[in-house]
Amino acid sequence: MARTTMSVVVLILGILSICLASPIRTYNGLSVQLTVADGLLGNSTDGHITLLFAPAGVDPLEDQDVTTSPDHFYGKNVFRFKGGDAELLSGGDGYVQPRTGVWGYPNSSLSEVPAGDYTLQAFLTPYESVTRSDGSVVSIKFPCGDGALPVDGPGSLTTPATNVTVSGGSQTISLTFTNITAVEDFNGTEIGGCSQGNYVETERLKYVKIRSSVLSEFWNRDMFVGANVLLPHGYQANDTSTRYPVIYHQSHWPADTGAYGYLTNPAFTTAWDTGILPSTNITAARETPKMIIVQFRHETAFYDDSYAANTANIGPYGDALNDELIPYLEKTFNTIAEPYARIQDGGSTGGWESIANLIFRPDLFGVCFTSYPDSLDFHRHQAIPLYTVDNAYVLPSGENITSIRENINGTLTNVTSIAQENHWELTFGTSSRSQLQWDVWNSVFGAQGYNNYPLEPWDKVTGEIFHEAVEYWKPMDLGMHVATNWDNELNLGEALRGRIFIYVGSWDNYFLNEGVEEFQKTVDAKGGAGWANVTILEGEPHGGNYQRREIWNYLELVASWISDHAPNGTNPLSANATAPSGRGNKWVDVIARGGHQAAVARQSWPVAQKQGRGVSSSSVGTWDPGMKLQAQWLVNGRPVGKPFAVKQGDNVTLDKIWKVQLAVTGRKRGYVDETRYSNTVTAW
Ligand SMILES: *[C@@H]1O[C@H](CO)[C@@H](O)[C@H](O)[C@H]1NC(C)=O
Ligand SMILES: *[C@@H]1O[C@H](CO)[C@@H](O)[C@H](O)[C@H]1NC(C)=O
Ligand SMILES: *[C@@H]1O[C@H](CO)[C@@H](O)[C@H](O)[C@H]1NC(C)=O
Ligand SMILES: *[C@@H]1O[C@H](CO)[C@@H](O)[C@H](O)[C@H]1NC(C)=O
Ligand SMILES: *[C@@H]1O[C@H](CO)[C@@H](O)[C@H](O)[C@H]1NC(C)=O
Ligand SMILES: *[C@@H]1O[C@H](CO)[C@@H](O)[C@H](O)[C@H]1NC(C)=O
Ligand SMILES: *[C@@H]1O[C@H](CO)[C@@H](O)[C@H](O)[C@H]1NC(C)=O
Ligand SMILES: *[C@@H]1O[C@H](CO)[C@@H](O)[C@H](O)[C@H]1NC(C)=O
Ligand SMILES: *[C@@H]1O[C@H](CO)[C@@H](O)[C@H](O)[C@H]1NC(C)=O
Ligand SMILES: *[C@@H]1O[C@H](CO)[C@@H](O)[C@H](O)[C@H]1NC(C)=O
Ligand SMILES: *[C@@H]1O[C@H](CO)[C@@H](O)[C@H](O)[C@H]1NC(C)=O
Ligand SMILES: *[C@@H]1O[C@H](CO)[C@@H](O)[C@H](O)[C@H]1NC(C)=O
Repeated sequence: MARTTMSVVVLILGILSICLASPIRTYNGLSVQLTVADGLLGNSTDGHITLLFAPAGVDPLEDQDVTTSPDHFYGKNVFRFKGGDAELLSGGDGYVQPRTGVWGYPNSSLSEVPAGDYTLQAFLTPYESVTRSDGSVVSIKFPCGDGALPVDGPGSLTTPATNVTVSGGSQTISLTFTNITAVEDFNGTEIGGCSQGNYVETERLKYVKIRSSVLSEFWNRDMFVGANVLLPHGYQANDTSTRYPVIYHQSHWPADTGAYGYLTNPAFTTAWDTGILPSTNITAARETPKMIIVQFRHETAFYDDSYAANTANIGPYGDALNDELIPYLEKTFNTIAEPYARIQDGGSTGGWESIANLIFRPDLFGVCFTSYPDSLDFHRHQAIPLYTVDNAYVLPSGENITSIRENINGTLTNVTSIAQENHWELTFGTSSRSQLQWDVWNSVFGAQGYNNYPLEPWDKVTGEIFHEAVEYWKPMDLGMHVATNWDNELNLGEALRGRIFIYVGSWDNYFLNEGVEEFQKTVDAKGGAGWANVTILEGEPHGGNYQRREIWNYLELVASWISDHAPNGTNPLSANATAPSGRGNKWVDVIARGGHQAAVARQSWPVAQKQGRGVSSSSVGTWDPGMKLQAQWLVNGRPVGKPFAVKQGDNVTLDKIWKVQLAVTGRKRGYVDETRYSNTVTAW
């Protein structure tokens, strides 16, 4: 409780002195001025500008990776940007003006671009303002069959890549947006316009795309989900009595390639098409396992895929894929529509998706073969001990937390820190809109903030963790979900026993082995060793098929699991294991806990009351986690005394003033500053 005592009433005339300190904008260094060629931009648009400075002669788009790119990155949001406007980027005031300022990486300010020759290109990604079914308005880029590229996807305005010499002194470079990136040319069938078209089919590779009614209703616009469907040798559409199990191979945006790189790995393609395994892999020619392999196309506004779950920021993708697209696939193709014959697999993002879908839908799927998954247990989110430390970038010891490591001949190399990656992401989009990794985790695992964007678990600049925001992640902590629903009506302890297979290398480049180990600890403590089958391969990095098996060896393992668990198999999947009651991640719960209504319900306004003779007190109200609050007593709407810092939950008291009101201003990166006023209370 903060207490302010005042003996003299001081009336300060003029505006409330609690507005943000005005940003220091310096035009001493480098500025880049951007205009739009006549007629290129019909209407004004909100969006995001990205500047890429590459070494002279290098295509700025060639490498945008945080670790390897030689580019200098700058980004800035624009609002109602029109053809005639000139947008000036200078300095690096994103840190104080996050919505409107300039963000830079690896240097924060444009004036820090070292003098020299560069090839510079600018991009403007227009945002679409959408009112979700829960009334919140989100301004973001919806991708267009491109796998959600951050800067140069269809619809982006581009300047020519231009050679420039940065002088190191005061300088303004002018560039003009002259072109709009077109939707990529393809010979397939477009369904629903600019979105995930179906490519040209082959005998084995089919493409499916449907309008999702749950997603379209949620986003108030047409939304589609698609799939690449790889049919086995011998498959005949008209032979509906020969039916095949399906591997749902979870991965990133697959474009037209099929699954397991069908069109990009000639050895695999030949074997799959002929149905005969290559003799190099086996002693005698043998048939390929006969199954259908499906890979989803479900790019979203936040990433190149949806994480295949129901999430408050991205929408009901779990339901769109599992209750709309899969039934459609099962009607269209000769599948065995039984849990034992629906297999989940994938690595990394797809690793998380595969295990999450089994855990959330044990009624739908039989088993998961999960490889090096994104964090299964947020005791380690990559290497961040998310629940137990207060900063996501720096450990209490002062050591930076590493995001990427590479073990080259026993030497740790190419180390990138979590701070570096997050700062780099900020140049591609604020409020978790970069369409990059840390941001999509914020949108998948977290709730929606009161600003309508993901409620970020930490301050993206400083790394300060907001533990109340992290609380919202817990339903997506898969270890916690299993443990807390072990023997209640979901009965996951029984339902999932023996159905989870996980592999990770002990040298995973992103430390994902740590989340797997935490998950294993949690479930072993409940179910005993072996409840889940976890393989940790010593010294192996991120990558490979399940257990680093050769692909055919792996597919035969899957085929044998299926025949063992078929109704006539040695170990049929029990009806209890696949009971509908095991279903989790229900949309109704996800949106009620994490959507706009929940964000509104989290808020409250200051309430002042008489505390005693001449003493008033007021609560400061409740605000989103991470809000920095400043309070100011007012008399007749005018400030009395100085503004003072308060914290969520504080109650503040004022003596010797008889008629006051409390104003509290909340401030957070990505939020518009907001002042909330209490009632006026008279205390004498
Ligand atoms: C501008 O907006 C209007 C109304 O929303 C729309 O009909 C028109 O197609 C837009 N023009 C361009 C060039 O985007
Ligand atoms: C830009 O600079 C590179 C490297 O100096 C040079 O090869 C290239 O021809 C230049 N391009 C133009 C359009 O001047
Ligand atoms: C302009 O964009 C179109 C469509 O994306 C593309 O074909 C063309 O090459 C671009 N022109 C220039 C000069 O970049
Ligand atoms: C479309 O088909 C035509 C004719 O076969 C071919 O020349 C062209 O390269 C194809 N375009 C794409 C994007 O595949
Ligand atoms: C399916 O169609 C093929 C080719 O027309 C034909 O040879 C085959 O007998 C048909 N199979 C069934 C089960 O109808
Ligand atoms: C078969 O074995 C060779 C040699 O070990 C390997 O390179 C290849 O990736 C394997 N798989 C296929 C599909 O040929
Ligand atoms: C941590 O990383 C920052 C850059 O993000 C660097 O300036 C600092 O020296 C690093 N600290 C340690 C202890 O390595
Ligand atoms: C790692 O060691 C191998 C075998 O000694 C050697 O061929 C390779 O060049 C080394 N790689 C690097 C990056 O040093
Ligand atoms: C890691 O560093 C080595 C040596 O500098 C380089 O060859 C390699 O491309 C780097 N890999 C990544 C993923 O950055
Ligand atoms: C785990 O599963 C693999 C097959 O994926 C099998 O080889 C291994 O024996 C299993 N481990 C245990 C402890 O059951
Ligand atoms: C189980 O049934 C399937 C489908 O009818 C059949 O292909 C398979 O051989 C049977 N397996 C056993 C062990 O009988
Ligand atoms: C299914 O669950 C019921 C109630 O828990 C139990 O009595 C029964 O033995 C279970 N059956 C199987 C096949 O596991």
